[in-house]
Amino acid sequence: MTFTVIQWATGGVGRGAIQAVRRHPDLELVGCWVHSADKNGRDAGEIAGEQPIGVAATTSVDELLAMDADCVVYAPLLPDEQVVTALLRSGKNVVTPVGWIFPDPARTAGIDAACRDGNATLHGSGIHPGGITERFPLMVSALSSAVTHVRAEEFSDIRTYDAPDVIRHLMGFGGSPRQALAGPIAGALGKGFKASARMVVHELGLGSAATIHTRQEVAVAAAPIDSPIGTIEPGQVAARRLRWEARIGDRPVVTAAVNWLMGEQDLEPAWTFGPGGQRFEIEITGDPSVLVSFTGLHSESVAAGLSHNPGVVATANHCVNAIPYVCRASPGIKTYLDLPLIAGRAARWRAKETR
Ligand SMILES: NC(=O)c1ccc[n+]([C@@H]2O[C@H](COP(=O)([O-])OP(=O)(O)OC[C@H]3O[C@@H](n4cnc5c(N)ncnc54)[C@H](OP(=O)(O)O)[C@@H]3O)[C@@H](O)[C@H]2O)c1
Repeated sequence: MTFTVIQWATGGVGRGAIQAVRRHPDLELVGCWVHSADKNGRDAGEIAGEQPIGVAATTSVDELLAMDADCVVYAPLLPDEQVVTALLRSGKNVVTPVGWIFPDPARTAGIDAACRDGNATLHGSGIHPGGITERFPLMVSALSSAVTHVRAEEFSDIRTYDAPDVIRHLMGFGGSPRQALAGPIAGALGKGFKASARMVVHELGLGSAATIHTRQEVAVAAAPIDSPIGTIEPGQVAARRLRWEARIGDRPVVTAAVNWLMGEQDLEPAWTFGPGGQRFEIEITGDPSVLVSFTGLHSESVAAGLSHNPGVVATANHCVNAIPYVCRASPGIKTYLDLPLIAGRAARWRAKETR
């Protein structure tokens, strides 16, 4: 069975999703929404840096709402709940890396109604949050008993992330420390990390009265640093650490953390990734305690990351690989706790060879 897909936005994640849909044996791209007027009418395959695919991108929301499709991969800069609601109400399932990983049921009445009206399903995915933060820790936790703490932590060189708007406006790089600490990151991105922490607390039964505490730190450039948002001048924010800690009383039970550095040189304080280098880590404290380090999700060099960032590609793949499972699910918001195991797919030549 082939599921038809619309790609919503063609930033790094969107372009990766177009490539992943193309490679997936059960998916076909039929539509593409773009934000920039200069992409209107261009072929979606070409926008993704590949051969033309015969799908013209459009800036028209109405055109895509009227189109028949099984699923939308929704990956704009910021989520617009009205658009997501309209997509669901129009009968399209939605998979997204920008929210709804483990939403509070008290705040989803509009989305729930749209899912019912459109017989559609919404699934929040991603890498961190949306994978490393909750899906994989929950899987690994099955190897342990008496779990007391779960940690998911990212160590990334942000010079390899070619998403200037996200880096400047969401992640808060390149401004003053005061602007960064007051910026949208703890709220906008923190919403996802907090939801993931709540999901782990809930599923492991770590305690019903967990409160989530956010800690932010910044490091500034001590000398000019080249970055995807231009030169970061001395005194401007060049590294960020954020920790979202779920606590029962004073006892931490879940920690989600990011260490985002514009390289390891010329930072004040002199933060580094430590001997482990760039990685994602999951640590389950229990019997036994388990430590998993994910490598391969970061690029070998800054130049390689800017043209093909494995973490961004993995985010897109995680969304796209969920599509068949989400299309088969009953209507409503479905998290990893509701869906069956989501797996990748073999390269197409291999799938054909073994048929
Ligand atoms: N959960 C995770 O693990 C995870 C991982 C990576 C990214 N993300 C999230 O996924 C989203 C996309 O990330 P990305 O790396 O693809 O970013 P990106 O490369 O900067 O792309 C941003 C996209 O948003 C579009 N856009 C710009 N302004 C917009 C506006 N005002 N309204 C709607 N769309 C607008 C851009 O359109 P044009 O190209 O037409 O200008 C572009 O397609 C971000 O919210 C990011 O935080 C989540």
